[in-house]
Amino acid sequence: MTSQKVMPLALGMILASLVMTVLAGNFNQDFEVLWGGDRAKMLENGNLCTLSLDHASGSGFKSKNQYLFGKIDMQLKLVPGNSAGTVTTYYLSSLGATHDEIDFEFLGNTTGQPYVLHTNVFAQGQGNREQQFYLWFDPTKDFHTYSLLWNPQSIVFSVDGTPIREFKNLESQGIPYPKNQPMWLYSSLWDAEDWATQGGRVKTDWSQAPFVASFRNFNAQACVVASGTNSCNSKSSSDAWMYQSLDSSGQAKIKWVQKNYMIYNYCTDYKRFPQGVPRDCSFA
Ligand SMILES: *[C@@H]1O[C@H](CO)[C@@H](O)[C@H](O)[C@H]1NC(C)=O
Repeated sequence: MTSQKVMPLALGMILASLVMTVLAGNFNQDFEVLWGGDRAKMLENGNLCTLSLDHASGSGFKSKNQYLFGKIDMQLKLVPGNSAGTVTTYYLSSLGATHDEIDFEFLGNTTGQPYVLHTNVFAQGQGNREQQFYLWFDPTKDFHTYSLLWNPQSIVFSVDGTPIREFKNLESQGIPYPKNQPMWLYSSLWDAEDWATQGGRVKTDWSQAPFVASFRNFNAQACVVASGTNSCNSKSSSDAWMYQSLDSSGQAKIKWVQKNYMIYNYCTDYKRFPQGVPRDCSFA
């Protein structure tokens, strides 16, 4: 129970604890291994991280910081060859039943068959907003940049600088938007052979294990929030991302990606939502 009297002090601490940062990221500094033990490796002085998956376990890391809004970039090189059944994730999430979450998940495939990039947005525990895409390149050959821009106006997912999805703040329409719960950044490599590849029909070939995905060049222009606080009020010259929104050329790029590479959209899944697709779809 917090009494009214302590509020001014608490507020002062909150304001003092907010830091707008530009982090040229370092895995040693910014992340900790969350699970999988030495299957998660920080290499090259913290510039590179690899996650591996074998029959006993996958692995994952988590940011030490919590972020409330930011522009976060990471380069990923996905599991090559027969990656069927594997899922590589890179996402922001808070905790609890009414958590917020912004997801990139990469669903592996048999050799030569396309990965699926799965995206989702949860606001106050409510998800069911999946969109899936093929990529216009082989994501296992080289590193590619996957970015999340998250600010009070919108969430934009980008691949190598090309926006692929936008989720707008539609609070004025009564639709919850992630903006009060600081989130950690997570990545993991795990097995989901029961659903990930071709609807679960193709299982993981464990003779190919260990499976390895690589991460590098983490960069966060973000509002770092000390644990227990939940606001971000800072204004500085380096926070242009905070006010950024998609311009008409960005909108055109999203249209191009959605026309040519989108393979699933919750907004057109009338079978799944016989009572009507989620309300945010009518503003997309
Ligand atoms: C795997 O390849 C098949 C066949 O090309 C394709 O239908 C499917 O969308 C691909 N991706 C996944 C994750 O199943």
